[in-house]
Amino acid sequence: MNKFPLNKIRDDFPILSSKINNHHLVYFDNAATTQKPKCVIDSISNYYKNYNANIHRGIHTLAERATEEFEQTRSLIKNFVGASSTKEIIFTRGTTEGLNLISSSLAKFHLKEGDEIIISEMEHHSNIVPWQMIANSNKLNLKVIKVSEEGEININHFKSLITHKTKLVSLVYISNTLGTINPVQNIIKICSQNNIMTVIDGAQSSAHKKINVKSLNCDFYVFSAHKMYGPTGVGVVYGKEEILEKMPPYMGGGEMIKDVSFTKTSYNDLPYKFEAGTPNIGDVIGFKEAIKYIEDIGLENIESHEISLKKYAEKALNKIDGIKIVGTAKNKIGIFSFITKNIHYYDLGLLLDAKGIALRTGHHCTQPLMDKFNLDGTARLSLAIYNSTDEIDYFVDSLIKLMNR
Ligand SMILES: Cc1ncc(COP(=O)(O)O)c(C=O)c1O
Repeated sequence: MNKFPLNKIRDDFPILSSKINNHHLVYFDNAATTQKPKCVIDSISNYYKNYNANIHRGIHTLAERATEEFEQTRSLIKNFVGASSTKEIIFTRGTTEGLNLISSSLAKFHLKEGDEIIISEMEHHSNIVPWQMIANSNKLNLKVIKVSEEGEININHFKSLITHKTKLVSLVYISNTLGTINPVQNIIKICSQNNIMTVIDGAQSSAHKKINVKSLNCDFYVFSAHKMYGPTGVGVVYGKEEILEKMPPYMGGGEMIKDVSFTKTSYNDLPYKFEAGTPNIGDVIGFKEAIKYIEDIGLENIESHEISLKKYAEKALNKIDGIKIVGTAKNKIGIFSFITKNIHYYDLGLLLDAKGIALRTGHHCTQPLMDKFNLDGTARLSLAIYNSTDEIDYFVDSLIKLMNR
């Protein structure tokens, strides 16, 4: 691809042509959720209009079509993340549910009293609270890797936390607040040398970086469809088959069983053992279109477009007097958390909304990280494939005017 087809991409997202408060929408809240292209919206509507049925159990035409489309998404995701088998791809409601699935199940067979789990200061609440919950119930020790002022993981501190009791490390690949790209490859290598299980929170990485779970060699990788141009309510847990085989189910119910009697229940094979109940069929099918959409543009092309946008935004933001960017790691994506000298982040969010600009304000579900920086919140601009340098110019211009009122 010679030139990034930005105009064509923008046309694919119907919401981008809408007006907010009489201004063209400028959507910079992509780390919270991305917008959806027409192909995703159409495919969900097509499922409900033309072949709505429950999956796996029916033998009629609609049920077979729905099952086929649903399972095609699983195959596509298997290839997208480079897994060995579709048995390793489990559908969830999102990253949060994925992390809860892993922690609850591991708590029942892998993590015993006195064992240690390591996370980092930059984790999202969904990669803190589930571990805290099982740490409390199983009497485990939760250790936290320190993050530098720039927002980078301190590898030496990480190494110093490892003991013979360390059983698991759960780490965010890309921080939703700082944009930092963590050196997960290196961390996973250290973990596998020490026989430590690894969980990677891929909520912010899957739409921006090419992932290959085999070359990463992580034990688990979790992500959400809605942060990668897909629908809400769908997520994925990738897990190594040999570990998933040993893990007990997360929830009980229909679909996850082979045989049930009042005295004994035998569980279904992977991945269904972890998929109790009717899943979010229409949205899983819609997710397939999102993955195809990303693959058609190509993650390398997306990455290079986003890197140039990031550099452009970074340069422009650094020129503004009176703003402080929180998170200046060398290796980061286009996520900029910042505070200004004279406008509270909450007011700034409202004032920018009046100009049609959507960005996030608050603690971004990373309160311990905010505490570390002595902040209670920031404004956060986060970029995606459809953003342009014109939008960044408009944002910077609006911000400067607001700060100099
Ligand atoms: C880094 C990170 N982890 C986990 C999550 C939780 O994802 P979800 O709300 O889709 O479950 C998010 C969402 O913002 C995130 O950014």
